[in-house]
Amino acid sequence: METVVSGIRSTGKLHLGNYYGAITNFVKMQREYNCYFFIADLHALTTHPTPEDLYANVRQVVVEYLAAGIDPEAATIYIQSDVPEVAELYLYLNMNAYVGELERAASFKDKVRANPDNVNAGLLTYPVLMAADILLHRATKVPVGKDQEQHLEMSRTFANRFNRLYKTEYFAEPYAFSFDSKLVKIPGLDGKGKMGKSEGEANAVYLSDSPEVIRKKVMRAVTDSGPTVPNQPKADAIQNLFDLMAVVSSPDTVQHFNEQYNNCAIRYGDLKKQLAEDMIAATEPVRTRIHEISNDNDYISNVIRMGNEKARESARKTLTEVREIIGFRKF
Ligand code: TRP
Repeated sequence: METVVSGIRSTGKLHLGNYYGAITNFVKMQREYNCYFFIADLHALTTHPTPEDLYANVRQVVVEYLAAGIDPEAATIYIQSDVPEVAELYLYLNMNAYVGELERAASFKDKVRANPDNVNAGLLTYPVLMAADILLHRATKVPVGKDQEQHLEMSRTFANRFNRLYKTEYFAEPYAFSFDSKLVKIPGLDGKGKMGKSEGEANAVYLSDSPEVIRKKVMRAVTDSGPTVPNQPKADAIQNLFDLMAVVSSPDTVQHFNEQYNNCAIRYGDLKKQLAEDMIAATEPVRTRIHEISNDNDYISNVIRMGNEKARESARKTLTEVREIIGFRKF
């Protein structure tokens, strides 16, 4: 069975875009592949979180992934910092990663531009740590978005370089992978592009948002002054609301509002009210699970203990073999 690895950013709560995109993908994959999903809390150190924030964010992400359907019996879910072998592999790969190529990575340049006062070495070698995450389990499939494609390319480079240097074929090349070729589009509420937290708090609906907060956010979503001529194409902001409706509402509801739009009788207030209620209903089971799991410390620690053990078993095996290949032999 092929192995899948994905690192999850430990920067807090999940929105509907994460839920209907990446997580739905993970939930399907966990039955078909040998999956490792981990919380990337070592990567998070590049931005210097306080110990309290680091802990709270990692916990929240674990809770929300479990609530959203990651099954700890099917997949291995673990915390990156609980598997020290990853730091060791990172060290070995660093010996064979060149400063020039690391400086040319687009995400590094973006981060330097955004935070010129915090250009630390961890930021520079972020792609090496990511390669170590993947190669640690000798994974070939990595479910990540377009923004991580260059990092994956670098993982392939480091894997191949290791193989060439030590005249081995130990590491296979990892590639980006999506279980579902047709990923649903989840736009934000600001009338522009996709849902994301960098676009501002009001643009995204979070899985942990209460029904009142969801109503407030949806009612404030950007619209226009409405159609005056029948059967006109929709402006982006309006299309976005219909796209969200297509995900959370029944086909009848979508059809009803489409007809209203097409004969210029639509009232966006009514559409938003309906959208908010359908969104609340669609996310209710996850919201309930988030509360249940969050209150169950024993469950969380059992899940994590079990995941860490499975991850370390795989990691130890790789590191034993890697040390042997490198030439660290017993005297
Ligand atoms: N860099 C990824 C992101 O920002 C997170 C990540 C860290 C990751 N290590 C990984 C993803 C290994 C896939 C595999 O989303």
